[in-house]
Amino acid sequence: MQSKSESGLHVAIIMDGNGRWATHRGQPRVAGHRAGVAAVRRVVEHASDVGIRTLTLYAFSSDNWARPAQEVQSIFWIIRAFLRLECDRLRQQGVHLEVIGRRDRIPAPLLREIERAESATADGHILKLRIAIDYSSRTAIADAAIAAVTDPNSNQPLTSDYMRTIIAHALKANCGDVDLLIRTGGEQRLSDFLLWESAYAELAFTDRMWPDFDESDLASAVSDFNHRERRFGAIPAASAKPMYVVSGSAQ
Ligand code: FPP
Repeated sequence: MQSKSESGLHVAIIMDGNGRWATHRGQPRVAGHRAGVAAVRRVVEHASDVGIRTLTLYAFSSDNWARPAQEVQSIFWIIRAFLRLECDRLRQQGVHLEVIGRRDRIPAPLLREIERAESATADGHILKLRIAIDYSSRTAIADAAIAAVTDPNSNQPLTSDYMRTIIAHALKANCGDVDLLIRTGGEQRLSDFLLWESAYAELAFTDRMWPDFDESDLASAVSDFNHRERRFGAIPAASAKPMYVVSGSAQ
């Protein structure tokens, strides 16, 4: 069982609705992705104000390779520009940036920018910002399981508990399970995002398109989350009355 860490919340966001936002305005889909960058900036800037310690953003899923090549290239270009232009600001804000997902298919110029931004922000202690690129949760879990069973240095028996520990570690879930998962754009599904880490996440779906999402939407999602009762499979504390004994047996 894992709950909100003492150092703050882990919020994950599926940034959906960029394409529709643009189409509704008679603009090409890529205009929605460009406008989405401003929303990224807003949530990053205000995340720590509302108690977020780790923020994981779904920027490009492994299934997004099925989109037209031009849109894929544009998304990569936009992310690269964001990293190049915002890196100093992120560092000043105390952000520690990390990219999760496959790296072997990422175009070299973007990969260079990712590595540069990761090392430039490595000392950030205010907010851990994780950007998921070429990310598939099923692939991440499968890779973690392969690493566990093929580790030549391990002579541990492959028990469930051992595998859970190894997989969580390999998924970098040590930054904490997801507390709150937000999806914009009106759809209500997880789309292969942080399936393991979201085992007990609270889910929040909003019709707001990602480019329109702002700090007040973030604050209201977190405030709603703070009023939810998280039981992690147990029962509410108030209901946990002491057991009493009837006819010699516990009830
Ligand atoms: C999903 O909306 C969005 C994406 C696949 C791309 C997200 C990328 C950004 C917001 C660019 C900036 C990111 C960073 C981290 C700087 P969609 O296009 O599927 O929307 P639709 O459902 O309306 O078509």
